[in-house]
Amino acid sequence: MQTYLIRTFGCQMNKHDSERVAGLLGAQGLEPVEAAEDADVVVFMTCCVRENADERLRGQVRSLKSVKAARPGQLIAVGGCIGQRDGETLLRQIPHIDVVFGTHNLAHLPALLESARQQHQPQVEVLAESTDFNSDLPTVREHRWHAWVPITSGCNNFCSYCIVPHVRGRERSRTLEDIVTEVEGLVSQGVLEVTLLGQNVNSYGRDLYGEPRFAEALRAVGATGIKRIRFATSHPKDLSADTIAAMVEVDAVMPYVHLPVQSGSDTVLAAMNRHYTQADYLALVERIKAALPHIAISTDIIVGFPGETEQDFEGTLEIVRAVGFDQAFTFIYSPREGTPAARMDGQVPREVSQERFDRLIELVQSSALENSLSLVGTVQPILIEGTSKRDETMLAGRTRTNKMVHAPLPEGHVADEYAGRIVDVVIDHAQTWFLSGQLAGTDQ
Ligand code: 5AD
Ligand code: SF4
Repeated sequence: MQTYLIRTFGCQMNKHDSERVAGLLGAQGLEPVEAAEDADVVVFMTCCVRENADERLRGQVRSLKSVKAARPGQLIAVGGCIGQRDGETLLRQIPHIDVVFGTHNLAHLPALLESARQQHQPQVEVLAESTDFNSDLPTVREHRWHAWVPITSGCNNFCSYCIVPHVRGRERSRTLEDIVTEVEGLVSQGVLEVTLLGQNVNSYGRDLYGEPRFAEALRAVGATGIKRIRFATSHPKDLSADTIAAMVEVDAVMPYVHLPVQSGSDTVLAAMNRHYTQADYLALVERIKAALPHIAISTDIIVGFPGETEQDFEGTLEIVRAVGFDQAFTFIYSPREGTPAARMDGQVPREVSQERFDRLIELVQSSALENSLSLVGTVQPILIEGTSKRDETMLAGRTRTNKMVHAPLPEGHVADEYAGRIVDVVIDHAQTWFLSGQLAGTDQ
């Protein structure tokens, strides 16, 4: 029996692609394993959005050299964004790699592995673009009731720090019919929750229909009978009034939005090419909260962008205080070759960025804790995913706002009875990133 291991870095699009790779390898009769030492095929799904992910990947692949020597016939494949960006160069840098593939040709991975095996020659295939969303590929999903559904790929925004448009290419949308057909299929397989994916879901459809049709996509996906709809990522400049209306109208759309702000300073936002100001962002948040009072908002923030002054950074702290984010993914700016920001004056010294980063984290945590505490005493419908990784007597699942909740498994029951069900939980305790409570009542 041949075996495989997939290591995934980076964003949800990569997680989704990894599920497709698992499906493809599974269809070839390979079984998943947990350790590289036991794997005949090791696949890395990579990210190059920041330098540390880039370096970690190289470190991990290099360290497999001895593992591979001890397991003759093992094949190492590198795909995702670094595969797409570096192609042949990767082979020159790390000669024990057998296959390099890109973001547009997942479906060819089994054939590339086979050629590498037969020809004892590394294989590189990176396509400039493709219009195929691979929706017909087999999939092994991490959770049987949750599916990632890509609706666009690529990005047209060219934020000045970001490598993504250079690697993933121009924005392309899937047809609405194709998306709806996939979600209908998922519903019939028992999937309860989908996350619609794109670098900027709010501009979904612009390339196909001449105008964004994201609100329509939410309504159409809602009509399939799926229980929960999430989506990411929303660019603040494109989140329309109609989308907010659709979020209110469609019961299945969860009250949660990931809305990267990146900075709270107008000077920095302009240099980032984000096309909104601090005031625009705050006004948008006001509109969203007016329509959906219990919505959770998460964000991405970069500190230490070139030219960022202490005063600019204060603007970021100000916006974090004003919005009260449920969660913020915080990053120290990392220059990426080929992006305009990498050539800008005023690169911020590491110690300064680090000190700002630490202050930001403290504020983000207190805001997340405040939001969590506000849920104590409430009853929340939780989609149970299984048990806590650390404690098998604790059921684990997520609120409509995507917060993790633990609740004791009632005596005499097994977790499988609850997994994949939406049950009410009375929240009795809150930490920054976790809630806990007691099961209370019936399925929805
Ligand atoms: N440096 C630091 N963070 C970055 N991001 C994107 N590019 C960079 C970079 N060069 C962050 C942004 C984006 C998230 C996915 O990664 O905040 O929203
Ligand atoms: Fe990168 Fe900006 Fe596109 Fe997001 S919207 S992928 S940050 S260029």
